[in-house]
Amino acid sequence: MCRPDFFTVTYAINPWMDPSAPTDPALALRQWEELRAAYERLGHRVSLIDPIEGMPDMVFAANGALVVDGLVYGARFANPERAAEGPAYLKWFADHGFPTMEATFTNEGEGDFLAMDDFILAGTGFRTDITAHKEAQEFLGKPVITLKLSDPRYYHLDTALFPLDGRNAAYYPGAFSDGSRRVLETLFPDAITADEEDAAVLGLNAVSDGRNIIINMEAVNLTNKLRDRGFSVIPVDLSELRKAGGGPKCCTLEIRP
Ligand code: ARG
Repeated sequence: MCRPDFFTVTYAINPWMDPSAPTDPALALRQWEELRAAYERLGHRVSLIDPIEGMPDMVFAANGALVVDGLVYGARFANPERAAEGPAYLKWFADHGFPTMEATFTNEGEGDFLAMDDFILAGTGFRTDITAHKEAQEFLGKPVITLKLSDPRYYHLDTALFPLDGRNAAYYPGAFSDGSRRVLETLFPDAITADEEDAAVLGLNAVSDGRNIIINMEAVNLTNKLRDRGFSVIPVDLSELRKAGGGPKCCTLEIRP
């Protein structure tokens, strides 16, 4: 994770961001501390990268890289505003002894790549280029399945879908192209589907460890569905970070050793 020490909204690279609307950086920091504390209470270890002044979106660690089986595929950001984050995250991993690969093609790490047990789901349409899907597959040696995003509000795959565990997922069908929706129905016949209301509060930007799910507190319908399936749901308030288009998952880069 990356402390939001320099968080604010100074540019708009997705429909959630409005540089003319006020942000409350102190509140953003308190909300982020709550998220970090929630992970630690669950027994997860949280490592931190130093934030860089002038990089207000660096708090969204998910975008920094993709880590699968201890291999780190680096991010190459679509927008110049975030370009410097890619090398910063890759250096963190190299400094911590991980084998890394610098990407040739545009991709925003775990914003658009979500690892399942036997394959990786990969979004395209707004940020990550489909050529990066192939590059990641070749580097990581796991099948990468392309999914096309069709609604600019759900510009990263992790704003529209999250793995419930290594084999099943929850998603908002309205964020995907017709073909990709059919792919999802085939892959996940037992999926939990979310409605527009849940999606609009970034309820799909959740993090599951297979048993516990950390999710934006406003995603009430989805929370009920998850509890009905037996998950332990931990609602969090990340309203300030949502002003930049981010939620719990965006703040979290999962390190799979
Ligand atoms: N403002 C950031 C951007 O548009 C938000 C990134 C959210 N991260 C994510 N994993 N969806 O790039």
